[in-house]
Amino acid sequence: MARSSWTCMMTLFRPSAAHVALAAQAEKPVCAFLHDLGALRDQVRSLTAPLPPGTEFFYEVKANNDPRVLRALAPWVSGFEVASAGEVLRIRDSVGPSARIVMGGPARTEDDVRLILAQGVERLHVESLHVMRLANAVAARAGAILPILLRVNLAGPVPGTTLTMGGSATQFGIEQGSIADAIAMLDACPSLRFEGFHFHTVSNNRDAAGHAALCAAELRFARDWSRAHGVDLRIVNLGGGWGVDYADLGWRFNVAAFARALGPELAQGPRIQFECGRIVAAYHAAYLCEILDLKRTHGRAFALLRGGTHHFRLPSSWSHNHPFRIIPRDPWPHPWQRPEFIDTDITLAGELCTPKDVLARNVAVDRVRVGDLVCFQMAGAYGWDISHHDFLCHAHPERLFLNEGRMVPA
Ligand SMILES: Cc1ncc(COP(=O)(O)O)c(C=O)c1O
Repeated sequence: MARSSWTCMMTLFRPSAAHVALAAQAEKPVCAFLHDLGALRDQVRSLTAPLPPGTEFFYEVKANNDPRVLRALAPWVSGFEVASAGEVLRIRDSVGPSARIVMGGPARTEDDVRLILAQGVERLHVESLHVMRLANAVAARAGAILPILLRVNLAGPVPGTTLTMGGSATQFGIEQGSIADAIAMLDACPSLRFEGFHFHTVSNNRDAAGHAALCAAELRFARDWSRAHGVDLRIVNLGGGWGVDYADLGWRFNVAAFARALGPELAQGPRIQFECGRIVAAYHAAYLCEILDLKRTHGRAFALLRGGTHHFRLPSSWSHNHPFRIIPRDPWPHPWQRPEFIDTDITLAGELCTPKDVLARNVAVDRVRVGDLVCFQMAGAYGWDISHHDFLCHAHPERLFLNEGRMVPA
């Protein structure tokens, strides 16, 4: 991974008028994701630069699996963390045979393990004792040794964040109380090679000091367990979870403070890995939607968009008002008066036939008109990728990827 004195943390992509013109060329209402791959690269470089040498930083593919994103990131990350056979093949097709891949995820099949072995996936993060047996059996049949980390669901409590995967009753990982059983079972699994522990306990932690404390505690647990059970600890994967703030576009997770706070723990080894998604991919993309209609019902003002949660489910999934700005567009092609609202609290609704299709509620705007654009910012992570694209069979959005001002082909 390239290291430099890179410190720029303000990589939020704000589409210019020229960018908007690119998205608005067709004779139809605007609906487009615009990605700036230069901003994406700047972001990942700013995240990895403060980390101590030897720390491995993987990109969490589920945040945005577009091949152009994966190719743009490949030179700047240690590798890719995937959760499915499809993601393995996506990396192999778009980045190539030498890209490093590690795999995690709670529900695993024999086919997954066969594919891992066939595609040179480096390591499996095992989440249950049954999957240990299953992976061992498949590896034994293939005459292979499969390196594994044991994913731990901590006893907790862990600090509250937007999403909590461990430290509570979730489907993830092997609960802390069963780690001794999992280590004991290694004797019966000679086709697995234990290499260490995996923790992805929280997502979107905005408290850099708190996140460093959590990671430090996880590292100490990993060292204590391997010492107590006499197993060789080569790797600890501390997951992702570095936060972003959708309510404050200027706020950034303090990676330098995080790395400083964790530094003394990291220096004691073993090899440390991170696998971040949201903080890498959130900032470089915007989702542009044309306002198709304006109306009031029961006293509330609505703007109806070409687009919605079938393209961008994040705001409804998190029940938040996604940050946006209105981009005014002056041409008005119709002979009747242009509908507009002035100084209004607007609710931005999509084109789906469900009252759940809302991207922001009651947000004050100076002026909105039919034909103006809504530009949702920080739309690059868990946006298009987590959405139900074909509900109602509306046309998909354009997906435009820019690099140094040029369009990047698929
Ligand atoms: C196992 C695992 N690791 C890492 C991540 C990345 O998390 P984040 O996007 O919060 O960095 C995820 C996301 O859910 C995950 O499931």
